Amino acid sequence: MNPESLLIEDNGKSVVKVGGFILPAENFNLAKFLRDDLGTTWLHAGGLPSTLRLIEKLDFEPGMRVLDLGCGVGSATRYLARKTGCQVVGVDFDPEMIRRARESTRGSAYANVRYERMDVLHTDFPDASFDRVVIQSVACFNDKPALFREVLRVLKPGGMVGMNEVTWLKPPTPQIEQVMCSTICETFRGAELAGEWVRLLEAAGLHGASAEAHPFNASTAYQILREEGVVNTLRIMWRVLTNPEINMRLSAMSELFRNCPEYFSYGIYTARKPSMR
Ligand SMILES: C[S@@+](CC[C@H](N)C(=O)[O-])C[C@H]1O[C@@H](n2cnc3c(N)ncnc32)[C@H](O)[C@@H]1O
Repeated sequence: MNPESLLIEDNGKSVVKVGGFILPAENFNLAKFLRDDLGTTWLHAGGLPSTLRLIEKLDFEPGMRVLDLGCGVGSATRYLARKTGCQVVGVDFDPEMIRRARESTRGSAYANVRYERMDVLHTDFPDASFDRVVIQSVACFNDKPALFREVLRVLKPGGMVGMNEVTWLKPPTPQIEQVMCSTICETFRGAELAGEWVRLLEAAGLHGASAEAHPFNASTAYQILREEGVVNTLRIMWRVLTNPEINMRLSAMSELFRNCPEYFSYGIYTARKPSMR
């Protein structure tokens, strides 16, 4: 399927017609849809499998200081802390994200996780204060050179950044970009080709950048169960079954994932701050 053909005029309005569904040709805020309508708490491309891949690549050791930039409601932050035994700080500028993130760790066993409300481009942390920085579906929304300069500043010499961001597999036309932004997420406005993500990391002074592209699949029921637990999975399933708007949006997304895989992926990137000599 050529995604360009999905952008059509309907009664004088620009719309995206995908799999029998008609969506307005406007930017769609996926994180808000996932959090407020569907009720999921993992808000990044690739979900749990992408975070597991980042964990494999970042050589965490228990006790390391880790910064999760743009942590959302903090599920991936908590998972990272539990899995690695590191001291993890999640930051986000959205007060509702931070409120929910803190609520989920209140009174629980997460002594090694905390959340702070901050702009990822200008955090309050001192220079060289983290061993690892993690970024999951956040760079796309931001001034990338400024973000990577901040990453370089807060990393200790020899420290690593791991990033999971939406990645074009081939350059999109403006029409294809609009179809993606309207059907899946406005994040595609800030997506890059893998080579450009690597160039941006290295231009900021981070070294040895590596990149891998992974197919963008719709989540399976098993994956949702692992991410959300039994109670929230049942709540999510109920919402899908009873809300036609949610059902329509998810079906349109799956249709695009299935039919145009040659255009987009989520990319896993790592790079290192040079050690001092
Ligand atoms: C797509 S969500 C990803 C959330 C989280 N990383 C996860 O894996 O579930 C993007 C998050 O980045 C946050 N964000 C975007 N730009 C930011 C900025 N400049 N400063 C702080 N947070 C930001 C948003 O508020 C949102 O919670």
